[in-house]
Order: sequence, then structure tokens, then C-alpha cells
Amino acid sequence: MDATKPPRKGGKRRQNYDDLFLKELPRTEKVIDSNSMINDLPQNTQQHIKTYIANRCPGSEEIVEALFYIANNYPKQLRTKELCETLESVTLIGAKINALMADHPERKKNMTIYDLACGHGLLGILIAYRFPNVKVVCIDHEERPCWSTYIEAFEKYGEKWEGKDSVMTNFTFREGDLMDTATFQPQIGDYLICIHGCNDLSPYILQSAKQNKCGYAIMPCCVRENIFGVSTKSSNRNWGMDDDTRYATMVGCLAGKYDCEKIAAISKYITNRFLMIIGDYYEDGGGGSSDDEESEAADTSKRAKRT
Ligand SMILES: C[S@@+](CC[C@H](N)C(=O)[O-])C[C@H]1O[C@@H](n2cnc3c(N)ncnc32)[C@H](O)[C@@H]1O
Repeated sequence: MDATKPPRKGGKRRQNYDDLFLKELPRTEKVIDSNSMINDLPQNTQQHIKTYIANRCPGSEEIVEALFYIANNYPKQLRTKELCETLESVTLIGAKINALMADHPERKKNMTIYDLACGHGLLGILIAYRFPNVKVVCIDHEERPCWSTYIEAFEKYGEKWEGKDSVMTNFTFREGDLMDTATFQPQIGDYLICIHGCNDLSPYILQSAKQNKCGYAIMPCCVRENIFGVSTKSSNRNWGMDDDTRYATMVGCLAGKYDCEKIAAISKYITNRFLMIIGDYYEDGGGGSSDDEESEAADTSKRAKRT
């Protein structure tokens, strides 16, 4: 961060949707039921979901249309839990990307944003839609049918950027092993995202971000014992650490091990894997953007209008 720049002011507080997550959406004991589909929700809950999407994507109501096109036409595709955890993650990540591009404008032209172990790929799609002038690549081992239907929906309802003849011109899916450098080799200044990558993926991506001076947003999922060099279970099971405590401890260890900037949370009422390690190793005269990126987020989340 350039010390001569004034600190960025804090932005608006994000509207809290815990009541929706807790009281309206189908749940298992602690989190949103992963089998719940948006298309199966009662009509009034679907309306609340539309308001929630519009709130998280300010100025881009067409995203509501695109997502409900998916829910209605591919009723087994859009899961309630995946939608909520993706929207919350995109809100945090989008704010960080805005902040780092404000600190280092040259990155707007050059950087690639990767959604690694993308699974359904919705996060990468939403990030690509939000940053139409930045290249976005989603990578997973396994191609999924929903990759093409999300593109179909955004081509149908999305707004084109600067006279381009299609909407998602900055976006690609890539099938392959992200640990194979022929599939994934980041360059200085890129931004690496991995939401709910298991075990070795999170440290691998943080290591790769550090080596290549990239930004990163990592939300670890399964964390095998000892994987980050710290043990949380005694052999005779006497330590009694509950799952939430263990997860938080392990994420803290991982963030500490890689000198990460901060750990943020999405609502723990959505998922029990709710902590995101966020930061930036880019060091062209600074590296690391200011603490509060939210002020940037609200202004620039809207996609540029058709020209
Ligand atoms: C739990 S899912 C997470 C998917 C998505 N990011 C999400 O938030 O729902 C983990 C994904 O990692 C992918 N995966 C695991 N190891 C991988 C690797 N080495 N290269 C590419 N994809 C990988 C799997 O195919 C799977 O889709």
C-alpha cells in the first residue's frame, strides 16, 4: 500500500440475511440443506431470494433473471446452499479485487482471475460478469454440464461490454488438474480463488500465490489432520475439540503459515466451512491493499451498460 495515499474510508455495512438463512431456507441441524434446490422453494421464499440476489449484486438485476432462468429451466442445477455461499464469497472477493485494482491500476489490463477447483463454476461466472475487462479462467478436474448452462443464461440476460458481440467474452472453463503446471501457471499480479478446496489444495494455491506474487481468496473445506503442521486430535480422543473450533484453528494455522493478510467470514448459518483467507502478495511498490475494501465494492459492482 502506498503510504502517500490517504486511507480508504469504510464503506456501507452489508445487509445481514441471517434471518433468511435461518428461518426460511431448508436446513440440516446447523447449515442450509445441501439438497435444497432454488426451484423447489415456496414462491414467497423465491421472492426473498430474488431480493437477496439483487442486494448482493447492486445495479445488476439481470443477474436475478439469469439465475432464475437456471432455476426454472434446469431445476436440478441451482442449489440453495451453493447460491448463498457463492454470493457471499463473491461479495467479499469482489471488494478485494476492486481495492487491489485501485491500488495497482496496471493490474486491470494484465491480470487473470482464476476460480480453482471451481466445481459448478458459478463463482467464476459472477466474477467474470462483474469485471468484464478482466480475464477469468475456471479450472476443475471434471467438466460439469452446468458450465454451459450458466454461460447460456448469462448470454441470454447479461449485458454486453463495450460493443462486444457476446456477454462472457472474458471467461473460459478449463478441464484439468490445477496441480499440473500445463493446466495452471499463474503470472505475477494474478488473482487466485479457491472456495471449498479440500486438503492439499488450499496450501498449494497459497504457495503458488506467494511464489508468483498473486492475490488470493481461499476458503478451505476438509482439513486433514497434521496437514498444516499442527495436530488437533489426540490419539486417544481426549482433546474434545468440536468441529467449528478445529476448523477455525486450522484455518488460522494455514493463514499464519503463509503470512496471510486477513481472515474473513461469511455467515456460519450457510455453511460450516465459512472462513476465507484473503490477501495479496503483489509487491510492486506496496502489495496488500487497505483493510476496508467495502467502499469500493458498492460503486463498481454494476456491470458496464451496453454501448
Ligand atoms: C468441494 S468441491 C468445491 C467446488 C466449488 N469451488 C464450490 O465452492 O462449490 C471441490 C472441487 O475440487 C475439484 N478438484 C479437486 N482437486 C482438484 C485438482 N487437483 N485439480 C482440479 N480440480 C480439483 C473437484 O473436482 C471438485 O469439483
